[in-house]
Amino acid sequence: MSAHGSNAKTISLAIASDHGGFILKRTLSTYLEAKGISISDFGVSEPVRCDYPDYAHKVCQAIQQGHVTAGILVCGTGVGMSMTANKHQGIRAAVVSDVFSARATKQHNNANVLCLGERVVGAGLAQAIVDAWLESEFEGGRHQTRIDKLMSWDLES
Ligand code: RB5
Repeated sequence: MSAHGSNAKTISLAIASDHGGFILKRTLSTYLEAKGISISDFGVSEPVRCDYPDYAHKVCQAIQQGHVTAGILVCGTGVGMSMTANKHQGIRAAVVSDVFSARATKQHNNANVLCLGERVVGAGLAQAIVDAWLESEFEGGRHQTRIDKLMSWDLES
């Protein structure tokens, strides 16, 4: 599928982190694999200091090229990852630290990249956030109109 989001039933995920998100990335990968969700890890492969844009870019490219349906990016705050991801055409990335927003970011924004901060959320909350995002469905309708507007500016830059 292209970069338009999906639900948990058909999803294949890419995941990546920098050093600030390495431990949470590993925890989430294990958690999702145990649920039978296909997940491709784009690094970083060990917790050495690195630049989060490099890893956000790999995941966004995998989505744009149709290799996966959606992505998860983890850094210290989730902010740098989300800033980088949202520079990519077709990507709607949201940094989330609560379950309500995780649900809404799929229902209303059809986010195809979820960004998390290892220094912000604990592992249990992060798992609940990922579950809420994966299990929610995009509601379309007026939300699609708004997304069409926002994505139209992708092409202008
Ligand atoms: C790394 O120290 C930290 O800046 C990074 O993980 C992230 O939080 C950036 O947004």
